[in-house]
Amino acid sequence: MEKDRKLIIAGNWKCNKTVAESLALVADLKRDLGSIKELDVVVCPAFTALDAVSKALSDSVIRLGSQNMGDNGYGAFTGEICAGMLRDLTVRYVILGHSERRQFQQEPDALVARKALAAHNASLLPIVCVGETLAEREAGITHDVVGRQIRGSLAGLTPDQVEATVIAYEPVWAIGTGKTATSAQAQEIHAFIRGVLAQEHGDAVARRVRIQYGGSVKPSNARELMGQPDVDGALVGGASLEAKSFVEIIRNSI
Ligand code: PGA
Repeated sequence: MEKDRKLIIAGNWKCNKTVAESLALVADLKRDLGSIKELDVVVCPAFTALDAVSKALSDSVIRLGSQNMGDNGYGAFTGEICAGMLRDLTVRYVILGHSERRQFQQEPDALVARKALAAHNASLLPIVCVGETLAEREAGITHDVVGRQIRGSLAGLTPDQVEATVIAYEPVWAIGTGKTATSAQAQEIHAFIRGVLAQEHGDAVARRVRIQYGGSVKPSNARELMGQPDVDGALVGGASLEAKSFVEIIRNSI
């Protein structure tokens, strides 16, 4: 489906793969995707594989992303990785506020917003994740939850920074469960998110923001999801760990 916004499909490898395994996957993706330019393709390996994957991608159109970063710059922050270190490895995107971090590391919206600002200030493009739990959906408060996350996680960004931010709508109940939101459910929330962006940052900005869907995206459902007017790509977990399924998702999305 033709859209003004260029689709962006990102693979979130989570806490998986050694350096050697990461390089093997990247080699397969380079072979299968060649110089694909119809959409933006991003891979997000673990921190430990970023350097090696960065070198392997130096002659590729596939972009590099990281799965997180700290909100501070260089300094006495033991165990942290800062935006400047990621830029040094030619990382272009950074996933922020993934529901697993919100759940297991108790990351609040305000911290996600500080990270998003730090990312932009270092010329990294954040992929900011939002999404409701099953209990929240069943309680009928999906819009409240997602609206609050969008407002809170982008607080303090300039209109230009918001426009360059990628949003990933990932219903928590669909992540790694095999349960995908129907394309109608995804479209409904994506349109809602674009409406919130329009209220907060104006129509022109909202029209340009790319909103990915994430949660059990696979080759069999990618085409239908990408066919929705407000779905501008996918954040893929499990199915991005093998070249075959990730490449099929990409091919089915064009
Ligand atoms: P999944 O994960 O595709 O395995 O559901 C998506 C994500 O968490 O980004």
